[in-house]
Amino acid sequence: MTKSNDVSVRDFNEEDSNTSANPTFDSVLAARLSRRNILRGSIGSVATAVLGGASLSACGGGDDPAPAPAPAPAPAPAPAEKLLAFTAVAKSLEDKVTVPAGYTATVIYALGDSLRAATPDYKNDGTDADFENRAGDHHDGMEWFGLAADGKASLTSNDRGLLAMNHEATTDERSSFFIHADGGKATLPRPAAETDKEVNVHGISVVEVKKAADGKWSYVKDSAFNFRLTPWSEVELSGPLRGHALAKTKYSPTAVKTRGTINNCGTGKSPWGSFLTGEENWAGYFSRGAADDAARGDKSVVALKRYGSAQGGASRHGWETAGTDDKYQRFNNSKTGVSADGSDDYRNELNTFGYIVEVDAYDKTKLAKKRTALGRFAHESAVFGKAEAGKPLAVYMGDDSRGEYIYKFVSEAVWDAADATPASRIAAGDKYLDKGKLFVAKFNADGKGEWIELAMSNTAIAAYTAYKFADQADICVNTRLAADAVGATKMDRPEWCSVNPKNGEVYYSLTNNSNRRVDPTGSQYVPDSANPRAYTDVKGTSSTQAGNPNGHILRLKEDAAGAAATGFTWDVYLFGAESSASPSAINLSNLTGDQDFSSPDGLAFSPSTGICWIQTDDGAYTDVTNCMMLAALPGAVGDGAKKTLSYTKADGSKLNVDTYVGKAASADTLKRFLVGAKDCEITGLAETPDGKALFVNIQHPGEGTAMANIADPTKYTSQWPSNAGYGAGKRPRSATIVITKNDGGRIGS
Ligand code: FEO
Ligand code: CA
Ligand code: CA
Repeated sequence: MTKSNDVSVRDFNEEDSNTSANPTFDSVLAARLSRRNILRGSIGSVATAVLGGASLSACGGGDDPAPAPAPAPAPAPAPAEKLLAFTAVAKSLEDKVTVPAGYTATVIYALGDSLRAATPDYKNDGTDADFENRAGDHHDGMEWFGLAADGKASLTSNDRGLLAMNHEATTDERSSFFIHADGGKATLPRPAAETDKEVNVHGISVVEVKKAADGKWSYVKDSAFNFRLTPWSEVELSGPLRGHALAKTKYSPTAVKTRGTINNCGTGKSPWGSFLTGEENWAGYFSRGAADDAARGDKSVVALKRYGSAQGGASRHGWETAGTDDKYQRFNNSKTGVSADGSDDYRNELNTFGYIVEVDAYDKTKLAKKRTALGRFAHESAVFGKAEAGKPLAVYMGDDSRGEYIYKFVSEAVWDAADATPASRIAAGDKYLDKGKLFVAKFNADGKGEWIELAMSNTAIAAYTAYKFADQADICVNTRLAADAVGATKMDRPEWCSVNPKNGEVYYSLTNNSNRRVDPTGSQYVPDSANPRAYTDVKGTSSTQAGNPNGHILRLKEDAAGAAATGFTWDVYLFGAESSASPSAINLSNLTGDQDFSSPDGLAFSPSTGICWIQTDDGAYTDVTNCMMLAALPGAVGDGAKKTLSYTKADGSKLNVDTYVGKAASADTLKRFLVGAKDCEITGLAETPDGKALFVNIQHPGEGTAMANIADPTKYTSQWPSNAGYGAGKRPRSATIVITKNDGGRIGS
């Protein structure tokens, strides 16, 4: 969903568990910065891409150029190939997807597309049903899984594969109006028939795609590989939470399973070829009664509040009101039962959401598993560092809410390259992802940082008074509280991360933070070295947005121990900004008009070209441009310089913040590649191993449409992709596009 700076109401997309007052405008800072400090850039993030060869790691990090084992030889690039040789795409407000001259973007898979022969083609008029057999809504993170001609998993296939992708949400939070003929019923109680459609557009889909002899890509409607995983599908709990008291529910009194996955945003791909999907803003789909805190009367109230679940709060869609059937009642997390352990109600249901979920994209008969050892928060991507034989694996993750943290999981098992086979899949996940250490990051003002282990052996956690931890499973469930206890650094909303295959450095999109202030009040945060900007941006002619409206991309280099390191060095690779903004206070990376962006979100390095793709999900620069994707060739941590930002506080005193700014990009190392349709975000990125087909998702075009205009397509803010020639009807649809180069070259050259 498009990012908003409004924190005055419950924001189901950017849950803020420290919500207090809406930020007050700082007049002193405003006076200093508002002249034309209007940078609204947003950087989008791209989902991790695919592997180039034998290793399935999408984001192999480390010191060597490629994850082990070595990639299979890609077709030799043309001798004259130069990366980022394309002409930059201009900022645009047009309702279309624009790519550079010499490239073609083709829609191949949109909301509602049928995934089996028996389900009719999508009429796109709100009368369609059977969404558990259709493409879901709000396409998000995405990964490629190659298929050989014989239907077996392939690491080298460039013309046939599976796209596994997230369907994060649906447009308009109460009634999801584009999927209902009349826009749906926005008041409570919600109709069961509408709820069934809305639930089923969430989750993930796996869909076969192929390239025909004429070079055209399409999805395969009746492929036996196609499947959906929805919020009602059975999913196993794995790791420390399995069998634990914190996960006992009426559905699973022995705490071994739950139903489905929801609000899936970022993705990842394991070195053994499984699909990883992150559950992000899940808490908003559930509700608790107005007197539930007293009914509980225990520490679970503290935990629920820390994750944004307040008693009496409305849920995003009101699904818990759709009927007495257990499939609806599971969205009511009130303590209604009489049991002591929660096995007769859904008081513990929220403890079964907020995880990285592992899925076998090649085998729909295998149950997905929630890998609870990796912690519970608003997950984005889950990205592996380089897999090195005999060493543990590192998985990098972020928690996307204002002031939340950056995490790393380090496996107990050491890597055995024999597991890098698609046949291992979920079994290898049991080996590497259920046991290990969970760390949270602390960024220091000297450019160094530390990974702090979240374990009962840490006295700050064992002796924490705000919440009494029982055991490691309790830490995995209440990860945010454990990270609070150890004093982790509150970040400007960590979105995707990715690992540079050239040097193993880890990049994190920090999309924006409306709560960053020089004179903080309530739940606001003062600028620090790793989140150093607090300023005011003007949107349109008068609307102002304070904090860090445009976001930045931070990167870190692990100390010599690599995956297991507990120390690192960091800097800020890029600051989002409008190119016209102050270069000394806002446009710290000196972005030009071909490079400026706001709110980086998706971020992924291409295994084929090494290009760092940056995607935006922005609401700050959208008076000037739709969301976009940029191509970058970054340097390395430390290639820039220290800079001190000097702020004047309300009392007249100075606040000096040291930060570390990466070397400014040149026209050869950063360039806008794509601008999306109206009201969309750009997200998800996967590519074929040869780098010649790039799959990208266009999420929620037209989401600014008013529900009252449902019957008048001329009033939709977007009619994409029908206006690009795809599908029936005029209602806008989230969709996957494939980008190819007209001369057959690699994408980004
Ligand atoms: Fe779903 Fe944080 O983006
Ligand atoms: Ca602006
Ligand atoms: Ca995102």
